[in-house]
Amino acid sequence: MTTPPFPTDALAAAERLAWLAAEIARHNALYHDNDAPEISDAEFDALVRENNTIEAAFPHLVRADSPSRAVGSTPSGPLAKVTHAKAMLSLDNAFADEDVAEFVERIRRFLRLADDVPVAMTAEPKIDGLSCSIRYENGRLVQAATRGDGQVGEDVTPNVLTIADIPHRLPAGAPDLFEVRGEVYMAKADFRALNARLLAEAPDPEKARQFANPRNAAAGSLRQKDAAVTAARPLRFLAHGWGEVSALPADSQYGVMRAIAGWGLPVSDALVLVDGVAAMLAHYRAIEAERADLPFDIDGVVYKVDRLDLQERLGFVARAPRWAIAHKFPAEQAQTTLRAIDTQVGRTGKITPVARLEPVTVGGVVVTNATLHNADEIERLGVRPGDRVVVQRAGDVIPQIVANLTREEPRAPWHFPTQCAECGSALAREEGEVDWRCTGGLICPAQRVERLRHFVSRHALDIEGLGLTHIEAFFRDGLIHSPADIYRLHERREALIARERWAETSVDNLIRAIDARRTPPLDRLLFALGIRHVGEVTARDLARRYSTWEALTAMIDAARARRAELVQAVGETDEKFRARTAKELAAIVETAGVGPEVAQALVDFFDEPHNQEVLADLLAQVTIEPVIHQTRASEVSGKTVVFTGSLETMSRDEAKAQAEALGAKTAGSVSSKTDLVVAGPGAGSKLKKAAELGIRVIDEAEWQVIVAAAG
Ligand code: IVH
Repeated sequence: MTTPPFPTDALAAAERLAWLAAEIARHNALYHDNDAPEISDAEFDALVRENNTIEAAFPHLVRADSPSRAVGSTPSGPLAKVTHAKAMLSLDNAFADEDVAEFVERIRRFLRLADDVPVAMTAEPKIDGLSCSIRYENGRLVQAATRGDGQVGEDVTPNVLTIADIPHRLPAGAPDLFEVRGEVYMAKADFRALNARLLAEAPDPEKARQFANPRNAAAGSLRQKDAAVTAARPLRFLAHGWGEVSALPADSQYGVMRAIAGWGLPVSDALVLVDGVAAMLAHYRAIEAERADLPFDIDGVVYKVDRLDLQERLGFVARAPRWAIAHKFPAEQAQTTLRAIDTQVGRTGKITPVARLEPVTVGGVVVTNATLHNADEIERLGVRPGDRVVVQRAGDVIPQIVANLTREEPRAPWHFPTQCAECGSALAREEGEVDWRCTGGLICPAQRVERLRHFVSRHALDIEGLGLTHIEAFFRDGLIHSPADIYRLHERREALIARERWAETSVDNLIRAIDARRTPPLDRLLFALGIRHVGEVTARDLARRYSTWEALTAMIDAARARRAELVQAVGETDEKFRARTAKELAAIVETAGVGPEVAQALVDFFDEPHNQEVLADLLAQVTIEPVIHQTRASEVSGKTVVFTGSLETMSRDEAKAQAEALGAKTAGSVSSKTDLVVAGPGAGSKLKKAAELGIRVIDEAEWQVIVAAAG
C-alpha cells in the first residue's frame, strides 16, 4: 500500500477521509463477516491511524460514517442477533513507547493525580482471536454472543457450549448474573492440524477450504449454524473482562480476574500488575520476546487501570475506554535480499513461485523461503532477484514478501518462466486462472513424485510404511517411476535391503504392506490416480454409479469419442469451446454431483497417452475391486446415519464402511435429514441435536445387532 502525501488543504483531506471511510469499512466487512481479510492487521492499523491523524488536523471534517466512530462491523451472517446488555467496546492502540507514556499522562491529567500517586495497571497479552461475551445466570451458562458491531452481536450459545475451556456452570458463590468477556482463539498447532484435516477431507483438494491464520480459523469455526462443526474444531477461550454483572467479587481489575479464574474460567497466566511507564514497557518487552514461542498468536499487550473506581471515573470516549489501551507489536517483519525466484510444481502441475532469501530472523524464526503466490503477485511487487525486500510472518502462515524496497531502474528484467524447471514442458495458464501449470503431466518428475506420494497416501491406496520421504528417495534412486513400480518393488528386495536404514524385516514388511493393496476398491484407485478435480467424494460417487472399472472406462471412452467428434466438427479447441463441450460431457457422465469440470478433467486425463501407458502398466499389477452400491439389505438401507462419540470395538472409518455396506449414507453432522444416530461415550452436541429433532439414537452394541442381522 502506498500512502499519498499528508493533505495540506481541506479539499484533499475531505477526499482522503471519504476514501479511508469506505476502504476501512470494506476491510472491516472482509475481516468480520467473511473471515477473509485482504490486508494485514498492520496495514489495516495504518489506514486507521492515517484516518485519525487527518481527523486530528481537520476536526471539522470528521464524517458521520468515520471509522473512528464505529466498532468492527454489523454482522450480516445467518445467526440470530443478540443485543448486548453492555456494549462490547474496542481498544485504542499504542504503537510507540511514547504513546504509552502519553496514555498514562492523559489518565493522570483526567483524574488530576499528583505525580507521586501511583496508577497501578494490569498488563496482559492481547490475544488474536475474536471476542465473545458469555452470560451466566444463577450459575448457569445461558447465552454467548460475538461482539458484532459492539451493540448487537450474534448468538453463538450452542457453539460456545462445545468449547472445552468454558464451564457450563459457575460454582456456588458466584454472582447471580455475570457476563464473562474474553477471546475465543485457536492455538497455532491446532490451526495447522485443522488446515491439514480440511485438506485431507476435501472432496476436491484444489478447492479445499484453508484458513489464512488462526484468527480466521477461530472466527470461521465459532460462527457456525451447526454447532457440531464448532465441536469438531479445537477452540479455546481466555477471559479478559466482564460485561453486565449483578455484583463484582473485587474492587480491582486484577482481583476480579483472579476471581473469574477461581470459578474455573481460563485467565492468562501472563496477567500481572505493573506500576509506572517503565514497568509497563518492561513487561511489554518481556512478552514480545516470548511471542514467537507462545502456543497462540498475540498482537500486543493490553494495559488496564487496576482500580475499578478509577475506571468508572475515566469512562469511555466514542468506541474505547479511557482506562485501557492496546500496545501493539509491530508485524513480525524483517528486511533481506531476494536471492532468486524459483518455482515449485504441485501434483496437478500448479506452479508456485518461491522467493529464495538471504537467511533472516523474523519473529524468532529463521526464514529462507517465502511464497510469492503467483505471477500477478510478482508483478504487483515488482520484485527481481537482488532486490531488498520486506518479509513478514503473519500469524502462522508461510512467510510472505510484503514490500519491495528496491526501486532503481533499469534493472535486469525478470520474466516468469515459460517452461517447467523440472521437465522443460511448456507452462500454460487457462483463461480466468491466476496460476500457471506445467503441461508435462506424468513426464514431469516433480509432478510424478507428488502423484506417487498421493497414490500411496492414507485416503488413496494407503500403503503402510511407504512414507513420503521413502517415495522421494526411491524415485530419486530410480527404484520407482510410476505406480506400477511400487507393485514390482519385491523384485528389488536385495537392492532395498542394501539401502541405508533398511533391513530384511523392514523390507519384507513393506513388501507385505504393498501386497495387501493389490486389490484396491474402485473408488480408492480412482482417487489415487490424482485426476484434477477428482477428490475422494467424487471418486466415490463415480465408483458407486459405475461399480466396475470396465463400466467406468466405457463411459469415459464414450465421452472422449464425443469430444473428439465435436473437435472434428467445429475445428476448435480453445477454452471457450472446452467450456461449452464440458457441459455435454457432464451429461454423459450421468453421475449426480459430477459437473462439467470433472467430466472435462476425466476426458483430459484419459486422452493423455502417458496416462494411458501408466494405467495399462498399473492394471497388470492390481485387480480393481468393484464397488457395489448396496451389498446387503438391512433396516438402514437408504437411510442416513451419523456416528458420534468414541466407538469401542472399531474405528470411525470402519463403522462408516459398515454402514455404507448396508446401503446407508453416513453424514458428519445431525440434521433433519438424519435417520439414525449411533452414539458412543463422550457424544455431545450431536446427541443433543438428535434429541431435539426426535431422531432415533442407539449405542454401539445395538448398531452391531443391526449389522449382524443383515448377515
Ligand atoms: S479488553 C473495553 N483485553 O482486542 C475493553 N481485549 O482491539 C475490552 N482483545 O475487542 C477489551 N485480548 O476482542 C481486552 N487482554 C485483552 C484482549 C482484548 C484481545 C481483543 C478484544 C477487543 C479487541 C480490541
